[in-house]
Amino acid sequence: MAHHGGHHHHDHTTDIDWAGMAPLLESQAELYTPLYTQAMAWLVEQAAGPGLVVDAGSGPGVVSCLLAGAFPDARVVAVDGAGPLLERARARAARLGAGDRFATVTGELPGALDGLDRPADLLWASRSLHHLGDQRAALAAFGARLAPGGTLALLEGGLPARFLPRDIGIGRPGLQARLDAAEEDWFAAMRASLPGSVAETEDWPALLTAAGLKHTGTRSFLLDLPAPLPDPARAYVAAVLTRLRDGAGESLDDTDRATLARLTDPDDEASVHRRPDVFVLAAHTVHTAVRAD
Ligand SMILES: C[S@@+](CC[C@H](N)C(=O)[O-])C[C@H]1O[C@@H](n2cnc3c(N)ncnc32)[C@H](O)[C@@H]1O
Repeated sequence: MAHHGGHHHHDHTTDIDWAGMAPLLESQAELYTPLYTQAMAWLVEQAAGPGLVVDAGSGPGVVSCLLAGAFPDARVVAVDGAGPLLERARARAARLGAGDRFATVTGELPGALDGLDRPADLLWASRSLHHLGDQRAALAAFGARLAPGGTLALLEGGLPARFLPRDIGIGRPGLQARLDAAEEDWFAAMRASLPGSVAETEDWPALLTAAGLKHTGTRSFLLDLPAPLPDPARAYVAAVLTRLRDGAGESLDDTDRATLARLTDPDDEASVHRRPDVFVLAAHTVHTAVRAD
């Protein structure tokens, strides 16, 4: 994880340089496009003809633009704390010919939603809620920005992505499960260090109900890219493992650190840059809820 410098009083190892993550966020969302497309087909069945679609915590806007494609009559507003990511979102929307019905709001969630000029018919929040200190309060604030009959779609949880077989012929088998555990440690520290962090039971349907909404569905969507991977997918796997090597390495023992070093060294025959058995298998869960009043 890169650190913020300058006047920001951010000095935790878990602080995230969101703008610096633009390339990874973009390549990830591009790779996961088949999964998002399935999720959006499901949303289209539920939320017919929304006038305003809001992407809360949009990042660089790959998914915001997919929302614009899934809902061709809607205006899409991407909201995020990182201005440079929203610049990329606007450029992408313009490139895809949706610039005239695409806007952005820069600011801290959930307060930034006050910058919307009307209530949302569909509010999509993908892996952004878990970066907010008080998830219960934030969900209530998201719900309060919905138009009557509007839908909140929350993408949180699912299954951690798998890239490698259990035994990869180097190091100790089961590395990926231990990487997941290391990432869980990082995630817990990240959540604990958020401003106003509140521990919460992450029962998303219950939290949507507590926010005054009617829970209407939960579905998980699979991304299944078998080996051999095309180059962009392979580059994505290498980027994720490199980030883990640099960020979550302290939770791993020496053997696993050495294996991760080999896996991320492009000059090593056994690295994910070269080995033939790398794949991507992941699942994301989407919960939907409707504002009844
Ligand atoms: C993991 S990324 C998810 C991006 C995108 N929704 C996706 O699924 O690919 C989390 C996003 O939330 C934004 N974010 C994190 N904390 C935030 C906050 N307190 N206020 C506004 N945005 C925030 C980050 O800038 C980042 O773009």
